[in-house]
Amino acid sequence: MALLPKNVFFPALLVFCLTVEVLARNGPYTPPNVTRLTDRFSHLSYNRGFSEFYGGPNIQLISNGSIVNIKLNKSSGSGLVSQNKYHYGFFSAAIKLPAGFSSGVVVAFYMSNADVFPHNHDEIDIELLGHEKNKDWVLQTNIYGNGSVSTGREEKFRLWFDPTAQFHHYSIIWNSHHIVFLVDDVPVREAPHTVAFSSVYPSKPMSVYATIWDGSQWATHGGKYPVNYKYAPFVASFGEMVMDGCKLNPTEAAQSCSKSGLSSLDPVDGEEFVKLSRQQSMAMEWSRKHLMFYSYCRDPSRYKVLPPECNVK
Ligand SMILES: *[C@@H]1O[C@H](CO)[C@@H](O)[C@H](O)[C@H]1NC(C)=O
Ligand SMILES: *[C@@H]1O[C@H](CO)[C@@H](O)[C@H](O)[C@H]1NC(C)=O
Ligand SMILES: *[C@@H]1O[C@H](CO)[C@@H](O)[C@H](O)[C@H]1NC(C)=O
Ligand SMILES: *[C@@H]1O[C@H](CO)[C@@H](O)[C@H](O)[C@H]1NC(C)=O
Repeated sequence: MALLPKNVFFPALLVFCLTVEVLARNGPYTPPNVTRLTDRFSHLSYNRGFSEFYGGPNIQLISNGSIVNIKLNKSSGSGLVSQNKYHYGFFSAAIKLPAGFSSGVVVAFYMSNADVFPHNHDEIDIELLGHEKNKDWVLQTNIYGNGSVSTGREEKFRLWFDPTAQFHHYSIIWNSHHIVFLVDDVPVREAPHTVAFSSVYPSKPMSVYATIWDGSQWATHGGKYPVNYKYAPFVASFGEMVMDGCKLNPTEAAQSCSKSGLSSLDPVDGEEFVKLSRQQSMAMEWSRKHLMFYSYCRDPSRYKVLPPECNVK
């Protein structure tokens, strides 16, 4: 660079920056080819699978319940809770996020049993966090087990698409072997049910939730970029709901799995649910290399002693 005259340096720098910009958009952001697990399931309607959790007036079922719009406005957020609790299975929703200025808005698709086990609850979280200043959204994943609330196990990812333009699939595999988070069928995180993880591995039946709420305090560095209601209402659309696994029937308190012959330990048929295929593992490596920007396992300032599963390769 030092050898270039000034008038060449600046155009060269500009070309370099544009190239980096284009590469950043088109290079690593072409997702790898993976098996489309989400195609293997039929979809539940939101009016049959779910009930109101809160914010009823802000919940709108459309297309006969195959899609639900949940809204956050100055009066309230809103949310749905599954009518059944599930012990292991495959859980997925196609979600389209609110466009425009979305700072502080949180859209969550998660599983929890905090209502029944307040002191030793389990939780598996997909949280989409409206960005602080512009219209990027961030995907945060988290896992709690047996009341492990003092240890946050967050991992955060950028998305390789604009999540406000179209529906994209956000999915969770949860069984006796592992927990896997997937975006458009691309695995982004796997938590194997290892000895190191076993004491905090989610293991009790959980409900499924779809919510939108004001995360100003929680999601934006203590309220640095709060929700701006000038841009309200914020509407998230959920479609293509899959909840396939073993149901705990609330009235009978007995468990029944979606398909006969499958056990609650392996409630979903298919090798890819038991263990990531080579193709899925490679896709996960890609997503972690290019899209993950935070992992609790790489945060020694937060955990002087990293949680035990972090040291297992
Ligand atoms: C993508 O993956 C699927 C399933 O693994 C495979 O059948 C298909 O041939 C692959 N397509 C390409 C273009 O590699
Ligand atoms: C609406 O959904 C119900 C079941 O949830 C179904 O019986 C009915 O046929 C559907 N109607 C239309 C117009 O698709
Ligand atoms: C929020 O939306 C609900 C339902 O549409 C409406 O009744 C309420 O007035 C709205 N609140 C505000 C502050 O706009
Ligand atoms: C859950 O945590 C409690 C203490 O809070 C402990 O006694 C119990 O053994 C734990 N259960 C499992 C399965 O690790």
